[in-house]
Amino acid sequence: MIFVRHGSDWLLFGLRHAVGAPPATSAFIAHAGERSSVRQINVGIIGTGWCGGIRAETCAANPLVKNLHLAETRPERLTEIARLTGAKTATTDYRELLKIDEIDAYYISATPESLHYPIARECLLAGKHVFLEKPIALELHEADELIAIAHKNRVKFTIGYSQRFNHKFAYVRKSIADGTIGKPVSALVSRHITRGLGKKITGRSRLSPAAMEATHDLDFVLWCLEPAKPIRVYSTVNYGAMKAATGGDIPDTQYIMVTMDNGVSFVIGAGWSLPPGYPNFSTTWIEMIGTEGALLVDDSHRDVVLNTMQQGMQLPMSSMPGEFVDHSYAGPMKAETIHFLEAVGCDRPVLVTAEQARQVMEVYIAADLSAERNEAVSLPLPESRLAAAGGAR
Ligand SMILES: NC(=O)c1ccc[n+]([C@@H]2O[C@H](COP(=O)([O-])OP(=O)(O)OC[C@H]3O[C@@H](n4cnc5c(N)ncnc54)[C@H](O)[C@@H]3O)[C@@H](O)[C@H]2O)c1
Repeated sequence: MIFVRHGSDWLLFGLRHAVGAPPATSAFIAHAGERSSVRQINVGIIGTGWCGGIRAETCAANPLVKNLHLAETRPERLTEIARLTGAKTATTDYRELLKIDEIDAYYISATPESLHYPIARECLLAGKHVFLEKPIALELHEADELIAIAHKNRVKFTIGYSQRFNHKFAYVRKSIADGTIGKPVSALVSRHITRGLGKKITGRSRLSPAAMEATHDLDFVLWCLEPAKPIRVYSTVNYGAMKAATGGDIPDTQYIMVTMDNGVSFVIGAGWSLPPGYPNFSTTWIEMIGTEGALLVDDSHRDVVLNTMQQGMQLPMSSMPGEFVDHSYAGPMKAETIHFLEAVGCDRPVLVTAEQARQVMEVYIAADLSAERNEAVSLPLPESRLAAAGGAR
């Protein structure tokens, strides 16, 4: 591919037959011979903690980004990331960013999760493109409102289901889409993270393991099984270390069984109480069973073992979003961040639609209701959680 300047824009040419061009994969063919306008964009990042920091560093290094603007309430973190990224502006009040006209797109990575809906709403109402970390909102009607505003203002709106950018997960979806394993029959995903991260997440909100951890796997399996729709959810929660440590009503794990309208069912187990190991260690196991084959995927991050006199054995490069390793990146979050830049700068569609994120939300709300009642919950749910709690039997 080559870039050619055209006025203030850059034009991108796909050179399928050029010497040294990449092999003609389906993704490449999709753009070969096409010419699309490429525009440098100005980006705002709201919340530059763990994920927002990765987003900011990735954007700062990308030639599609002209200027970077940051908002973060912790001044010391704001200064650190502003210095690291050479941000044009940095503020502790995100509303100051909303006054900056030149910003085209926002990454919203602030916590607690109750901030997602109001901040995304303001950005979308201002006509800006939005990448919002999961969850899309706390209530279904809030998600519906955000989706409606994004459509009305014709802006891109996507949610951070980063695991879709993990090549192992993408391979499972590809193997279903191209018929390699035949028709899907059933699936299982088991995901666990360390209790340090469990404490961080549960310390800021009352969202369940279904809403905060299994959510990635619900998104992944529902994506694989499209166009089938979920119709029934059964879930249980399991108490142990987290309740003992905090005294709060915090489960260690949650198991969720989902039935689809085509008869396929799948199970997801997710938890956040593994003993400390490497910071933010995560481990995942996937079984996708089809009529013509099966995929067994080990994403347990046990492939690189570091052993030192000081800390014994550790599993580096094992966090869920991933981490920078000098010039490379281990994990999916960098690719996901760039995907959104390209969606805005090159006017391409986003991979994760807000409607899909809303569907995931409906399933994990149903899982929480099911665990409370100890009975299966049918979908669709009413738009309000209160109505769902009263009437979704
Ligand atoms: N995709 C993934 O793999 C993945 C992994 C972890 C977290 N997440 C999601 O990303 C989000 C961020 O998680 P995190 O672990 O980075 O959290 P974090 O707590 O490390 O970072 C959030 C930051 O937002 C800042 N903040 C709070 N209020 C703010 C405001 N009004 N304006 C600007 N900044 C504000 C905080 O000071 C903090 O630095 C969460 O909602 C979580 O669900 C996604």
